[in-house]
Amino acid sequence: MMVAVASGFCLVTLCARCVAVDDKGEVRPSNVAESVASVSAPTYVGKQVCRECHPQNFDLHQHSGHADTFSRSVDSEIAKKYAGKALDAGNPYGVFHYEWGNEGLRTRRAADMDQAPFALQYAVGSGRNAMTLLTLIDDKESDAAGIEHRISWFGSHGDFGLTPGHIGMTPQDERGLLGNVVRGKSVRQCVYCHTTTGTIVGTEIVDLVADVNCEKCHGPGSEHVQQARRSETPPPFSIGRDRWDLEAELQLCGDCHRLPRNIDPVALREYSAELLRFQPVGMLRSECYLESDGNFMCSTCHNPHQDSKAKSTAAYEQDCLGCHQPDSDAHVACSVSPTSGCVECHMPATKFEQGMVFHDHWIRIRDAE
Ligand code: HEC
Ligand code: HEC
Ligand code: HEC
Ligand code: HEC
Ligand code: HEC
Ligand code: HEC
Ligand code: HEC
Repeated sequence: MMVAVASGFCLVTLCARCVAVDDKGEVRPSNVAESVASVSAPTYVGKQVCRECHPQNFDLHQHSGHADTFSRSVDSEIAKKYAGKALDAGNPYGVFHYEWGNEGLRTRRAADMDQAPFALQYAVGSGRNAMTLLTLIDDKESDAAGIEHRISWFGSHGDFGLTPGHIGMTPQDERGLLGNVVRGKSVRQCVYCHTTTGTIVGTEIVDLVADVNCEKCHGPGSEHVQQARRSETPPPFSIGRDRWDLEAELQLCGDCHRLPRNIDPVALREYSAELLRFQPVGMLRSECYLESDGNFMCSTCHNPHQDSKAKSTAAYEQDCLGCHQPDSDAHVACSVSPTSGCVECHMPATKFEQGMVFHDHWIRIRDAE
């Protein structure tokens, strides 16, 4: 992805994993790290353990995009769609031929059919919007590097297309003919945002737990599970706090969905089109957020476990009406349409690259089109 992510501050933590990652100076521990400051280094137990006692959250999560953000290509149904195809990536890249091997998907350029195929190692993104292939490579310049393949699958229009950000790109060297070479922080963050745990070592990911699972947001769960097995009222657990306030939640979601600090200042000032996909950035500009004394946050409208599309537009509009009641003195009501149609007019679905659609989370009165 194009927007650089600041490596930011370090939170006090006793978690060996977080310290190890941070020592490299690359990946910033998220506020997940805070959750472990008060207990002695809990470890990850995996989502199947959480399922035992939280089956509803598990089922919701299982149907959300978070449960499917990363896999080895050999395990990806979407990667299989490439097998046997020949896809034109434009000049000077040429046509890619794809085949299926024991290790998953691999490719050769039409110009290099006499050479060994190049393995496409990981499938990143669920494919609902898009899925991009990533292969880790050895690199002279950095101890972590990968190639983000040039052709992605777009669930948005059910077809292959150029990977977001690749339009107008030119290859820097021979390897760049397979896609964009991403190094250092960019590739570490790529793995960080799409997995629960995992550290790039050479061309492999050590301790890989794919997807944005329970413990990515709630922190490693061994201590909580032990407590819960001993007592029906285990001590509070959520990211090391006894409640989720606005700041904690915003840092959590914004760690991946982006906060203003991750955005180029000029783009931020102009609110340029690519900011559409960074919902926290839009939300933070909204009157609803600014005027609500900390009561307006992602979970005002989203159950963080649920697929956002599994909730009807009418249900989202009930959330608006939770504040903008026509007969209430506490908030203003809409003079144009006081009880329905809120999302369509005030946070419309807007097309992005390759037919992907995002909803502008800067909730505002728009100029008549
Ligand atoms: C042996 C049963 C058990 C297991 C396994 C378990 N939990 Fe819990 N959990 C509970 C109980 C009991 C509560 C407290 C009652 C409640 O809020 O449902 C709780 C509460 C929670 C809460 C809310 C706590 C708060 O502070 O408000 C979260 C979040 C949570 N669990 C996450 C997890 C995650 C993530 C896992 C897997 C790593 C997990 N649980 C595994 C039994 C369990
Ligand atoms: C570790 C990174 C990470 C964190 C933390 C995170 N997300 Fe996501 N989120 C993702 C990724 C990656 C996707 C893309 C999923 C896909 O490929 O379809 C996504 C997709 C989504 C979607 C759209 C897909 C769907 O299932 O509806 C919503 C809504 C969403 N996230 C909300 C949230 C909220 C709310 C929070 C905070 C409570 C949050 N996310 C925290 C990484 C994260
Ligand atoms: C700062 C966290 C972050 C980084 C770094 C990051 N992603 Fe994502 N990615 C997300 C989130 C959040 C979403 C869901 C919202 C969205 O679509 O932008 C997402 C969505 C996607 C999608 C689904 C299509 C889409 O746009 O919704 C693909 C494919 C993807 N990422 C691939 C990658 C690849 C490949 C890299 C690294 C080369 C990468 N991402 C780096 C957070 C990140
Ligand atoms: C994207 C981040 C994210 C993921 C992934 C996630 N949670 Fe949560 N979870 C939250 C947030 C944020 C809250 C607080 C929501 C609120 O206040 O409404 C929460 C609340 C909870 C609660 C207490 C309230 C409730 O809904 O019962 C439990 C239990 C829980 N989560 C369990 C789980 C389990 C089990 C999983 C994995 C199957 C999981 N969570 C995955 C972010 C996440
Ligand atoms: C937690 C309460 C809350 C929720 C939920 C909420 N808003 Fe607001 N919104 C406010 C507050 C507070 C203001 C400032 C005016 C006022 O006091 O009513 C505001 C202002 C607005 C404005 C005027 C913006 C401007 O720039 O003048 C619009 C439009 C709006 N909201 C639409 C919506 C829509 C659409 C939704 C649902 C998608 C929504 N709001 C949900 C609290 C909320
Ligand atoms: C006022 C209600 C509201 C709030 C607050 C809100 N969202 Fe949304 N969000 C929506 C609606 C409505 C959609 C569109 C759902 C659909 O597809 O029908 C959406 C969609 C999304 C999507 C899917 C991609 C897209 O843009 O369509 C993501 C990701 C997302 N929200 C993340 C977040 C995050 C992260 C936060 C907090 C920073 C947040 N949202 C706060 C109402 C809200
Ligand atoms: C057809 C498009 C449309 C729909 C549907 C719509 N609005 Fe509006 N809304 C507007 C326009 C245009 C304005 C500015 C009106 C003006 O300046 O007189 C506005 C103004 C507002 C304001 C600011 C009012 C003020 O006096 O400052 C709020 C709050 C608001 N809308 C909320 C909502 C909510 C909540 C819904 C759903 C129940 C909704 N709107 C549905 C177009 C719409």
